[in-house]
Amino acid sequence: MASNGATPAQHDGHADEYKNHQFPPGPAAEGALVSSRQQYDEMHRESIADPDKFWGKIAEDFVWNKLWQNPVRRFNFDVRTGPVKIEWFVGAETNISYNCLDRHIEAGQGDRVAFYWEGNDLNEDCTVTYSQLLDQVCQLANYLKSVGVKRGSDVTIYMPMIPELPAAMLACARIGAVHSVVFAGFSADSLAGRILDSRPSVVLTASAVKRGAKPINLKGIVDSAIKKVEAQGHSISTVLVYDHALAAKRTDVAFVEGRDVWWQDAVPRQPTECPVEWMGAEEPLFKLYTSGSTGKPKGVEHTTAGYMVGASTTFKYVFDHRQSDIYWCTADCGWITGHSYVTYGPMLNGATQVLFEGVPTYPDAGRAWDIVDKYKVTLLYTAPTAIRALQSFGDKFVTQHSRKTLRILGTVGEPINPEAWKWYHEVVGEGRCPIVDTWWQTETGAHMITPLPGATTLKPGSATLPFFGVEPAVLSEKGEEMEGECEGYLVIKTAWPSCMRTLSGDHERFETTYFKVYPGYYFTGDGCRRDADGYYWLIGRVDDVINVSGHRIGTAEVEGALTQHPQCAEAAVVPVEHPIKGQGIYAYVTLMVGTEYPPPAQLKKELVATVREVIGPIATPDVIHWAPGLPKTRSGKIMRRILRKIASKEEDQLGDTSTLADPSVVQTLLSMRGQ
Ligand code: WTA
Repeated sequence: MASNGATPAQHDGHADEYKNHQFPPGPAAEGALVSSRQQYDEMHRESIADPDKFWGKIAEDFVWNKLWQNPVRRFNFDVRTGPVKIEWFVGAETNISYNCLDRHIEAGQGDRVAFYWEGNDLNEDCTVTYSQLLDQVCQLANYLKSVGVKRGSDVTIYMPMIPELPAAMLACARIGAVHSVVFAGFSADSLAGRILDSRPSVVLTASAVKRGAKPINLKGIVDSAIKKVEAQGHSISTVLVYDHALAAKRTDVAFVEGRDVWWQDAVPRQPTECPVEWMGAEEPLFKLYTSGSTGKPKGVEHTTAGYMVGASTTFKYVFDHRQSDIYWCTADCGWITGHSYVTYGPMLNGATQVLFEGVPTYPDAGRAWDIVDKYKVTLLYTAPTAIRALQSFGDKFVTQHSRKTLRILGTVGEPINPEAWKWYHEVVGEGRCPIVDTWWQTETGAHMITPLPGATTLKPGSATLPFFGVEPAVLSEKGEEMEGECEGYLVIKTAWPSCMRTLSGDHERFETTYFKVYPGYYFTGDGCRRDADGYYWLIGRVDDVINVSGHRIGTAEVEGALTQHPQCAEAAVVPVEHPIKGQGIYAYVTLMVGTEYPPPAQLKKELVATVREVIGPIATPDVIHWAPGLPKTRSGKIMRRILRKIASKEEDQLGDTSTLADPSVVQTLLSMRGQ
């Protein structure tokens, strides 16, 4: 079973052995929603045996304008029997913004805190209650309507982590507009590509943001993205700009007359009431772009009712959410984790959460724990890369803080190495807090394989068992389902409520990528092992996607960016193990004919700068390795296996190189290491 390269960082032999330890729920089972393995088993069995009954009952807790018909779901997962189509809560009408806000306020919860906002710099904070948030959402929704946004319109959001970001998502959802949040760390080129794909007429942004010590000129990035978009014949009629005075002076921001509007000038004038659009269960809620193996990022589309029920139910059970909890998810709303586990899942449950604008290492590595104590955080959800980064500063930043309120710790985005698991469990959680290692994807919309804190015995590094309604299988190279203990490709056998429905404007690519690889199954792109207890251990991507700090980057995207540099003739990118990021980006670059190797050192800097400009800083290559020639087969296919081995300094395990058109390129490549 080949994963696409680097296994997660594993340095400590003892920690590796730690994988065999088991951690039963212990006191976490007390009062938990699911408080025993037996109860989980029963509920999972019911959810698979009669999904209509199981999900129909759960859905009764939400507010519907029109109830669904029977059966609850209708789907075809098998390309051989017709187009792939997935529908849940067929015939129903609801509104997710109503369910996130109005429903709680009507139940007398309006004064509950929705967000404790913690700014980038110390001593910048504010509190927003559910009632206050509803007012803001309605005002913004009314403003959007006033500039022509309607049910079905696309709206692009490029904003920092301020309360106005989830509010913007909820305002779109309220009036049936489809939001596309672009992480405000992507470059102007990337933003332009996403705007060109979804073609909104309105863009929401902020003047600037400070991330750590670094100011980022968001409005400037939006301006240059719009120039690129206009050059392609698409125009933006309104740019609504939040004046983020903590990060930039209003007077320093360039404005385009007639197009740009200050948020604070326009939105507060609007009425604080805005009736919702009752949306069909299968009407689109949002698009979110994510990297795939080939070509440009894919616009993953989620619809209304199934996503709502999936995001809400997973949040409730996986974090065993109680009204007394203070929840903090460190993800940005620009990623799926921020969609499902900042904006929608928690708010659907009326949760109180911390929204943090900054980075956990600024002004120092104790910031995260400072926030935990300041707000008395009980549920913390973060990524292995953040855990490793904090761990690298030593324990004292953690132990200086009390952390006694912490109850459950979550992780997401990449496999967690046992060493980081152990530190999270023993140092951060003082052995008290179960760790929920949640495996899922942008495409799945919600947690798929995950422990339940009161029910599941944990094994460090395993995402453990499927959530309700999820039926995973492991396939062999030949596509045969394997039983018992095995290792292979992770697929899903049946539709779950929050499954994506299509790719923006390209249903064929949707079918090809996810349903044609192994007909009859949803193909995840991940490799996994199942142990004798039925526990799943995720191994990593099996396609050409690199998981850098829990963010997906397509090798083809980075290669495409590199070749935009005039001196780059060809590039091949592979993952390489990285102690903090999990995987790093290792790029082999062939220069234009006639260039001498190694070229002046400056060229590496230029190539790196090109990638940052074309994609964004998250795609920064860690290594540029000069490649006077790339290892290719006689038919011209690059043998990436060889490149991965050289990148991870395992050239003694190159395997068979006899099919190379020119086997001597390997020696030349090795001689270029470190040049
Ligand atoms: C990886 C993030 C191991 C996996 C929610 C998946 C994980 C990709 C885990 C999706 C985990 C996510 N253990 N691997 N707990 N969670 N992954 O779309 O490779 O940004 O396919 O969604 O991240 O990344 P995405």
